[in-house]
Amino acid sequence: MNCNDYYDQHNEDKRFELDVFKLEYYRTLDIIERFIPERKCVIYDIAGGTGHYFRYLIEQGHNVTMCDLSPRHVEIARNRYPEKKNRIFTGDARNLPELESNSADVVLNLGAMYHLPDPEDRLDANNESWRLLKPGGMLFNSYCIRNATAYVEGIQDDMYADPGFLLMFKAIRKKGTAPFDKIMQYFYFHTLDEIKKDLKASNFNGYFKIIGIESIGGAVKSFAEKLDNEAEKEKLFNFIRICEEDEALMGFNSHVMGISVKKIKS
Ligand SMILES: C[S@@+](CC[C@H](N)C(=O)[O-])C[C@H]1O[C@@H](n2cnc3c(N)ncnc32)[C@H](O)[C@@H]1O
Repeated sequence: MNCNDYYDQHNEDKRFELDVFKLEYYRTLDIIERFIPERKCVIYDIAGGTGHYFRYLIEQGHNVTMCDLSPRHVEIARNRYPEKKNRIFTGDARNLPELESNSADVVLNLGAMYHLPDPEDRLDANNESWRLLKPGGMLFNSYCIRNATAYVEGIQDDMYADPGFLLMFKAIRKKGTAPFDKIMQYFYFHTLDEIKKDLKASNFNGYFKIIGIESIGGAVKSFAEKLDNEAEKEKLFNFIRICEEDEALMGFNSHVMGISVKKIKS
């Protein structure tokens, strides 16, 4: 399974225009901004896609470098931000020799875990992020969560009685992926226990927390419209923040964020 085949055929660049993904985008920024240090940071965005978070974080004054496995995405980002071209390159989150050890305040891995079904690959990616971080630095990993398709396609897209959807949903619940499905064969959906196990097995050890990205926000009526109005968005996010770490509600998420800290034993 090579996810470049998927991204060569699908328009990932426009994904955030769709309601659920727009909520994912704004909530991801909300989480990052609340948890990163209150100073200008060195940030590596290592599955940066076409550069949406890259652009935003540069505008906030951070020193950001991005890479992505997909040559197509890297080309889009380089063409869009020509003045930042030398900060955008093709790279694999599991092995990034281009980047120095102990050099980043923050590493974002907002995508590679969706495409790494093998725990050994996820361990390599987590340990590579650990290498890049300064002591005390933070890793933000996003994951597709096992019941995501139930919530997004089954409920929000009204597909719950469609036989094809049901087959796909059952397969993902059982194995984390659906090899027969033309889209889902490229994605891996985690259980919460898997995420915890991965992070405990990595050099990050026990120093992590897990936060729901969309959480109950997607169930709020006309949630997407509220994202266009700053005051309404803030009210919605205040509501979500109350229960964003509640394990009982994790199934409401399409994505969850694992935030890990590089602790050095003294
Ligand atoms: C769903 S997109 C998300 C992109 C971006 N972070 C965002 O949220 O808009 C997932 C991205 O992860 C990239 N990716 C997948 N496996 C990767 C890997 N091993 N190393 C680096 N990037 C990877 C894909 O090429 C794709 O651009």
